[in-house]
Amino acid sequence: MAARYDVIIRGARVIDGSGAPAFEADVATKGDRVEAVGAPEGDADFEIDAQGLALAPGFIDVHTHDDFAAVLHPDMGFKLEGGVTTCVVGNCGMGAAPHREASLLARAFHPNQTLPEWDGYAGYLDRLNLHPASVNIAALVGHGTIRLAGMGGNAKREPSSAELQSMKDLLGEGLHAGAVGLSTGLIYEPGRYAQTDEIVELAAEMRDARAVYATHMRDEGAHLVDSVAEAIEIGERAGVPVQISHHKASGRANWGKVADSLALIEKARDRGVDVSADQYPYTAGSTILSAILRNDGLRAGEGGIGSLSGDDVVIASTASHPEWEGRSIADFAEEWGLEAQEAGDRVLAQEPLASVVIHSMSEDDVLRVMAHETTMIGSDGIPTLEGRPHPRLYGSFARVLGHYARDAGVFPLEQAVHRMTGMSATKFGLADRGFVREGHFADLVVFDPNTIADVGTYEDPHHAPRGIHQVFVNGAHAVGDGVHTGARSGRPLRRSTPRAPSPID
Ligand code: ZN
Ligand code: CU
Repeated sequence: MAARYDVIIRGARVIDGSGAPAFEADVATKGDRVEAVGAPEGDADFEIDAQGLALAPGFIDVHTHDDFAAVLHPDMGFKLEGGVTTCVVGNCGMGAAPHREASLLARAFHPNQTLPEWDGYAGYLDRLNLHPASVNIAALVGHGTIRLAGMGGNAKREPSSAELQSMKDLLGEGLHAGAVGLSTGLIYEPGRYAQTDEIVELAAEMRDARAVYATHMRDEGAHLVDSVAEAIEIGERAGVPVQISHHKASGRANWGKVADSLALIEKARDRGVDVSADQYPYTAGSTILSAILRNDGLRAGEGGIGSLSGDDVVIASTASHPEWEGRSIADFAEEWGLEAQEAGDRVLAQEPLASVVIHSMSEDDVLRVMAHETTMIGSDGIPTLEGRPHPRLYGSFARVLGHYARDAGVFPLEQAVHRMTGMSATKFGLADRGFVREGHFADLVVFDPNTIADVGTYEDPHHAPRGIHQVFVNGAHAVGDGVHTGARSGRPLRRSTPRAPSPID
């Protein structure tokens, strides 16, 4: 008897997430799984003709700050309509629990909203189970968040052994609930006060689980290479895999340094250290203004962010001065007759939650990092839907597939897809995801490789990409003909049991 499926997608070029060459096949799903890849016999309740289109695993956004967004905006259209089916939240040291500290640190992302409550990572992930978002959520524990909880707000020192133990307990709660790793944000409050040893002690708690240490490093400018060395040292001493967040060289004076940081990563990998990185495909970054100023980023000479000028820094979102959005710090400096750093301070005094877009990278560096086999894609999108968030929130994956793979020829489409699916799932231990394979979860995206493109700009960011036709999340049809169906079939993803070290293929 011929099988009956829920969905058959017919005639697409299947890019299966492994990096292997695309092949033509029909793909059938039943329930939340892919049941057949090839020529499934039988029919389905719903068939899609995908002739001329590509079928890939749903994209995994390994670098997000969607911890609260997944709860506040569960439709998650800004990710889903761009083909993303899984977000790794909790990056840059800012996690979802403990809730009090988490909501303090997330305030800049959601300035005028009341943040719902939960109890620990268990409570956070359970909540996502009860009130699902449209995408799957895997969580990192945030070092900044647990440091704030364990040591209080103003601890510019090493933790006492009792404080360190309370941080370990909070990390343990997260890991036990299924968190996939620990992140640091070593330019931010309060993570910047942590010395290497403190992080090694915490990361070592993850050794048996082989959960990931992900890091926004201490300095992505003048001291980029030292910072990569520190990240690798932490991974080696703690015995855990390392993920370098948003790998880049920031500030004109530092352009080209990614050649050295990539070489250092290669050397560590040759010694058997599992170290990789993620990248968003733009020459501008984005963060909170306070982080730049606190690191003297606009001070002439050297700053931790890497010698920026006032022209490079543009207000993205504010809580109370929407008329400032889109203006550069140079603009304010001129109006007020101040140096850039002082003008930035004055903006901050009136608007402590301002976030900014920073034009700080060279295209050559972006290309060099992207082409490197250790780089996967993560948007680092700031989910502040008011204001003008960096367009990476919407467009990162389409931009890699369209602009960089198809138009610039950085790598074949299969390799581009691998860097946002199979490679990512393997690194973060997301079981049965990231590949189009029989028995895997039916997280799928159908897109047109000839037209796929990011659409949002810095001036006008709120646009879904072009060329993404269908998206399935756990078998449910979440985007149909480019439009969100309203499905909220995402799940909390809990770290699977210890896995073998992940070679990059
Ligand atoms: Zn970061
Ligand atoms: Cu980040």
